[in-house]
Amino acid sequence: MTEKANVICRCEEIEIEVIREWIARGYDTFDELKRELRVGMGPCQGRGCRDIILRELSKSTGKPISEIDPGTIRPPVKPIKLGVLAEDQ
Ligand code: FES
Repeated sequence: MTEKANVICRCEEIEIEVIREWIARGYDTFDELKRELRVGMGPCQGRGCRDIILRELSKSTGKPISEIDPGTIRPPVKPIKLGVLAEDQ
């Protein structure tokens, strides 16, 4: 990766050019890109890249962003102490 790379998914280090290349190949949903490139699968679970990728999908498909499927959204994984779980019992 060069210093000037346009990294969109910082967790998985995926550049916008790579995303555009895969969209041009016909991968036109967030979940398809996620399966192929792992975008949205980093520690932030897509909070850092999902909106940018959805905008890119909107631009290349011509669909309004409201019609683009945002894909499966899961809460971010956050470690907690076992004592916190034990307190509830
Ligand atoms: S920036 Fe893409 S998963 Fe975190």
